[in-house]
Amino acid sequence: MGSKAVKSYDIAVIGGDGTGPEVIAEGLKALAAASSRYNFKLNISDYDFGGNRYLKTGEILPDSAVEEFKNFEAIFLGAIGHPDVKPGILEKGILLKIRFALDQYINLRPVKLYPGVWTPIKDKGPEDIDFVVVRENTEGLYCGAGGFHKKGTPDEVAVQESVNTRKGVERCLRFAFEYAKKRNKNNQVTLCGKTNVLTYAFDLWQRAFNEIAKDYSGIKTDYAHVDAICMWMVKNPEWFDVIVTDNMFGDIITDLGAMIQGGMGIAAGGNINPQGTSMFEPIGGSAPKYSGKNMINPLAAISAGAMMLDWLGEKEAALKIEQAVINITSNKLKSLAAGKMGYTTTEVGDMVAEYVLKH
Ligand code: IPM
Ligand code: MN
Repeated sequence: MGSKAVKSYDIAVIGGDGTGPEVIAEGLKALAAASSRYNFKLNISDYDFGGNRYLKTGEILPDSAVEEFKNFEAIFLGAIGHPDVKPGILEKGILLKIRFALDQYINLRPVKLYPGVWTPIKDKGPEDIDFVVVRENTEGLYCGAGGFHKKGTPDEVAVQESVNTRKGVERCLRFAFEYAKKRNKNNQVTLCGKTNVLTYAFDLWQRAFNEIAKDYSGIKTDYAHVDAICMWMVKNPEWFDVIVTDNMFGDIITDLGAMIQGGMGIAAGGNINPQGTSMFEPIGGSAPKYSGKNMINPLAAISAGAMMLDWLGEKEAALKIEQAVINITSNKLKSLAAGKMGYTTTEVGDMVAEYVLKH
């Protein structure tokens, strides 16, 4: 029969602020190598949203752009956050706006220590540190519910409320159980909460968790308070397979997770809407002090690109990029830290691309 049509994917790229555009350029290099080797096409559309555009034009992220994003198969994002812009404006106006408007209700963050990568945890290696955090990504404290009363006076009151809907909690938990099943490692899901103090929010989480667990007889369940899990992630990371938690706790424990897997130079994540447009990003931020210096580690962005390909269904290509990253962490880089890799940002990207093409 006729030859198979070449698959093609429409990807929106937002380099963003600081080192974002530099690491995304290396991510795109790896993606281009993968697409040529595995015979699919990526149609890239570039967007310049971020601090510089905001400072120049006053525009943050118009609703029309958000509508446009819905037509893409995925978004590849560098970093959002600019030293000359008040904290919150770009984060809420770009990153959180996209997460919410595109209903990317899962933030998927693998915590995986690659061979050759230094971890601050003594006596733990790649066989011990390999789990995934499923963070709820559209609710909780991030909704912006609350407000001020008598702002700026001695009687000022500030209230910030955590919003937890049955639907939001349930779809997040289901995703975690499905993910544990598909991952098929320890077949275990740990709920991370604070049922001893947040007795409304996490009562809902715990009840929904127990009910959904009944549909997954092959999956073991476990529970840990968020403070305790910070202890266990450091002392016994090998206990974890899939951890599911709310937005705020997920934000906090995934920075801890990033550190035990070697730092922000390597940690990647996906903002997932299983029915819509998902967005993939290195989780490290814009690192303005390194911007323009060709010093930052692009492996987190490259890994985010691999996650994107995996999500799009290009499993072999994603795996090959991961192998390239592992090859480089085990055989090449002296450190994952910016400026200490023994290579420049672009050299690391070149090595990944070359490996993807030739191995
Ligand atoms: C993250 C970041 C964001 C968050 C900030 C930049 C709003 O820390 O992706 O983890 O809190 O979610
Ligand atoms: Mn964070």
